Amino acid sequence: MYILGIESSCDETSAAVVLMDEGRREILSNIVASQIETHRLYGGVVPEIASRAHIEAISGITYEALERANLKIEDIDCIAVTSHPGLIGALLVGVNFAKSLSLAYGIPLVAVNHVKAHVAAAYLEYPSLCAPFVSLVVSGGHTSFYRVDAPTDFVEIGGTRDDAAGEAFDKIGRVIGMPYPAGAAMDKLAYEGNSSAIKLPSPAILGDNADFSFSGLKTAALNYINSERQKGSEPNAADITASYTKVIVDAIVKKTDYIIKQSKPKRLVLAGGVAANSHIRRALEELCAKRAVEFCRPSLALCSDNAAMVAAAGYFEYLDGNFADTSLNASANDDGN
Ligand code: KG4
Ligand code: ZN
Repeated sequence: MYILGIESSCDETSAAVVLMDEGRREILSNIVASQIETHRLYGGVVPEIASRAHIEAISGITYEALERANLKIEDIDCIAVTSHPGLIGALLVGVNFAKSLSLAYGIPLVAVNHVKAHVAAAYLEYPSLCAPFVSLVVSGGHTSFYRVDAPTDFVEIGGTRDDAAGEAFDKIGRVIGMPYPAGAAMDKLAYEGNSSAIKLPSPAILGDNADFSFSGLKTAALNYINSERQKGSEPNAADITASYTKVIVDAIVKKTDYIIKQSKPKRLVLAGGVAANSHIRRALEELCAKRAVEFCRPSLALCSDNAAMVAAAGYFEYLDGNFADTSLNASANDDGN
């Protein structure tokens, strides 16, 4: 069946068409219009500007996704839209657009959780992947472990108690002068620094748990930078980045190892924008090899926000009969309420 995915939860407007059937998972188009250049001027996403940019882009992007897939709207069997979590005004643009299309053309509509969609990207990359598995979602807004018992059945088994890893990268990146979002640039710069140059606290919470706290790490890095500047010297950005990245990667490995020992999964799915980080990818690759766990991580284009992952997640909502109607609303919260 052909699924049209629509994503507008943050600063990317995206539409995609995927072909999903038993044994077939194919991306026919996946168009992403990024607003990053606009938000960069302000050092972060400005919700009002994001909503307006989504309104301007969404119909053109959807038309382009259908055209690239060589299909007409009448050929689509299901429309899948991200309804939560995210920026409420941004989400509303996608939800209202999807509802209008569904109503106008009589196409079934399903609502998709953005976090589940990140995980669903792995189904597109690994056509034989099936639940159960454990997933680690690391993004700008989330850092959580899930036990995925079925494609729509997620149980959170650990995660951050405050900020997300992506937010932590972006924040310190900004302080050392990188444009928003800093994650990808910090990934590169970390190779040029000494990862033991600066002593920073681990974001892994002590004890038998799979939890993180990034706020103390952020504050410690910020204090170090400020105290160096007060002494009149500009701290070495590469050393800060390498040291900062190392404590984050080590914490992720430590907690993933804990989860592997506790849950004994056959496979681990890494997902979310920060899953593009080469240091995290390599470290988890090594850990999974050591523990004989299959490691699945989507390609970089499927890690960041895109609508193909939304369409893939929507397929499983469709199979479960979780249809939405015109009463569908957007929600900023993880549980959709
Ligand atoms: O999943 P995503 O596109 O949006 C959310 O749902 O939050 O994630 C965006 C986050 C940003 O914080 C960005 O800096 C981070 O992913 N990111 C990275 C890398 N590429 C993107 N963080 C670390 N290393 C990267 N290579
Ligand atoms: Zn995302």
